[in-house]
Amino acid sequence: MKIFVTGGAGYIGTHTCVELLNDGYEVVVYDNFSNSSIEALRRVEQITQKSLQMIEGDIRDEVLLTSSMQGCDGVIHFAGLKAVGESVEKPLEYYDNNVHGTLCLLRAMQKNSIKTIVFSSSATVYGDPEFLPLTEKHPLRTTNPYGYTKLVIEEILRDLFKSDPTWKIMILRYFNPVGAHQSGLIGEDPQGIPNNLMPFIAQVAVGRREFLNVFGDDYQTPDGTGVRDYIHVVDLAQGHLRALEALKTPQCTAINLGTGRGYSVLEVVKAFAEASKKPINYTISPRREGDIAACYADPKNAKELLNWQAKRTLKQMCEDAWNFQSKNPEGIK
Ligand code: NAD
Ligand code: UD1
Repeated sequence: MKIFVTGGAGYIGTHTCVELLNDGYEVVVYDNFSNSSIEALRRVEQITQKSLQMIEGDIRDEVLLTSSMQGCDGVIHFAGLKAVGESVEKPLEYYDNNVHGTLCLLRAMQKNSIKTIVFSSSATVYGDPEFLPLTEKHPLRTTNPYGYTKLVIEEILRDLFKSDPTWKIMILRYFNPVGAHQSGLIGEDPQGIPNNLMPFIAQVAVGRREFLNVFGDDYQTPDGTGVRDYIHVVDLAQGHLRALEALKTPQCTAINLGTGRGYSVLEVVKAFAEASKKPINYTISPRREGDIAACYADPKNAKELLNWQAKRTLKQMCEDAWNFQSKNPEGIK
């Protein structure tokens, strides 16, 4: 089977390519390298000792996209912009890149009669939770342009399936992916100041940042800091293989990929300090606008429908993130 991976040079994409190649899939990566580098793909080849096809292109270039995916059997669609704060400042860029880009992708797939797609959605489509753990039946809503692009793309996929029920569509709602491949060759490599917790902590541990701002300690959570469902990126990557396997039959299904267990900011700080044997200096700061108190998945459907379950612990997530960070203090160059 040959899989066309948009955004395959990125954080989750590279880890998924490793799993695909190790499992015997052929892989074509299509990426414009706006948030990644070709070096990351070379490292995927180094880890697996297998080669993949790399195409530099934008998903909004429908002509190149259409010719590039010829001969592929299915698509995993990671390509997109993902920074919530930036999406508030540059909404048109986000809608254009994510929504328009996905429309181009789906039309290119139609032209090639490829009807199998796994799409990267996010737990952000649940907004502020009405109940926990979050099941896939929780009402969908969101509060920022990034979240809306995910929600709109989900709706487009559901409408597409209604219009042509021969499509095989899996929408994966990721919780908080962290960690890195155990080789330390690939991992999360944010440009500039990291927005997300684990890469920020990793940069404090390696000495690139002085201290972590803990955004709020007055939430209704056991220690007052925000609680999230952190999931090891290798577990997440393996979830994509199970999703492809489940797409033997036509369907349009949305599934949570999380562990079902929440950890607070301070628990993550402690776990990371233990893993790295470095002190993590932090200060309590005001809440970050738009943040919620707690968010974690009900992972039952993933177990039942995909035969998939996250295995790796928070300790492993921190050890692997630290291994990557300490081996690549300035990221992947
Ligand atoms: P990433 O930025 O590391 O990877 C995205 C990749 O897409 C990059 O290599 C980038 O260069 C590429 N890309 C962006 N726009 C493109 C375009 N127009 N044409 C071609 N390539 C393009 O991000 P990631 O963390 O690997 O996330 C992958 C997907 O998962 C994204 O869609 C993201 O929204 C979603 N997601 C991520 C998280 C997370 O915390 N990382 C959580 C939920 C959902
Ligand atoms: C963020 C995105 C969300 C996206 C998710 C993917 C925002 C508002 N939301 O979610 O849309 O789907 O990433 O992983 O950006 N924290 C600190 N200090 C920091 C950074 C974070 O205390 O410097 C806290 C946050 O307040 C939160 C927790 O750490 O309680 C996790 O934050 P983060 O890693 O940014 O993820 P989310 O906010 O869950």
